[in-house]
Amino acid sequence: MKNINFIFLSLMWFTLLITGCGKASTNETSADKEAVSAVSSSLVNRADDGRIIVGISMPDQQLERWNRDGAFLKSEFEKYGYEVILSFADNLIDKQISELRNMIDEGVDLVVVSAIDGGTLSSVLDEASQAGVKVIAYDRLLMDTDIVDYYVSFDNYMVGELQARYVIDALKLDASDETRNIEIVTGDPVDNNARYFYNGEMDTLVPYFEKGKLNIVSGQKDFYVTATGTWSTEIAQQRMQIILNSYYKHNRLDAVVCANDSTALGAVNAIRSDYSQDNKVIVTGQDADVENVYNILSGNQSMTVFKALKNEAIVTVDLTRAVLEGDSPDEKLIEESGWDFECRYDTTSYNNGRKNVKSYLLIPKVLDSSNIQKELFDTGYYTYDSDGNIILGE
Ligand code: GAL
Repeated sequence: MKNINFIFLSLMWFTLLITGCGKASTNETSADKEAVSAVSSSLVNRADDGRIIVGISMPDQQLERWNRDGAFLKSEFEKYGYEVILSFADNLIDKQISELRNMIDEGVDLVVVSAIDGGTLSSVLDEASQAGVKVIAYDRLLMDTDIVDYYVSFDNYMVGELQARYVIDALKLDASDETRNIEIVTGDPVDNNARYFYNGEMDTLVPYFEKGKLNIVSGQKDFYVTATGTWSTEIAQQRMQIILNSYYKHNRLDAVVCANDSTALGAVNAIRSDYSQDNKVIVTGQDADVENVYNILSGNQSMTVFKALKNEAIVTVDLTRAVLEGDSPDEKLIEESGWDFECRYDTTSYNNGRKNVKSYLLIPKVLDSSNIQKELFDTGYYTYDSDGNIILGE
């Protein structure tokens, strides 16, 4: 038993290590101070040229969705004549910091930032503020800084609730007293959203643990113990393979609550390779990534929580326009927007360690084999190419 815990501990420390090391290099240096003065001079030069430049900083391109977010945001901003500087930071914190610094040097008016690690950008955000650059946190909250004007995301707590509720209904827990076995695969602990997904899941599942209707055979319930560094499919797969070989040789696994699709892919691969019993295991996800849509259509994954990224981009662009026109948008932005989708203005749910950040939250949706054709293909979000491969629609 001991050496099994050693393996899980090392996987957990590996997750914390890869999330912790990028922090080391964020101390303010004299070079930083020089950068600040250089920025203010470029600001003066740009003040009157009438161009509006927006910087978009996305965390990574390995995780499918950020490529779409970047593309949707860029095309939406360009519709209004904005110039766009779009960058992807390859999950490297230093790279995200230097890309933001370059954007400030380029004289952007506003930056839209989805942070790799929300707690590592406070110094470059200070530079942005000194250069008069506005800051919108996109999808993931910017932490420990006053320099964030607004936050646009989905209701992240609701994502977790929807995943847990799906498992409860699929296992018909309210109609039986049998104990069912589940495992938990949480996201990247430095991603502020991961905690909201986890809390939404756990708050919904706890009553069933207490009633003895749900059991985690591995005993792994804690946020950090179940975490998956960088949302990596490989890390999720390795952990699930060890859990299956350690605890499910003679136990039945009924469900795996995965926080998103990249981790769900890892769980599905592990079940395929290391789970010998023939019952159907319920697997949750989030983002409707292409590989996972195939798995839902083939029955290997049960559901995904879909987030209409185009709408998240539309909210961000309309918010940016209002901010750059000198307004201080609030709930009226939603009333006056004419958006054909639901969005909630929230000033209390997202505290970043310094303040409650004014937030616009969109509503996620559950997709499974019963509605995926209608919601993804009939709407044109996805289509098939001439070889029958799923591709992004126009
Ligand atoms: C979260 C995001 C999710 C998922 C995850 C991994 O911050 O809200 O949609 O994509 O990151 O990228």
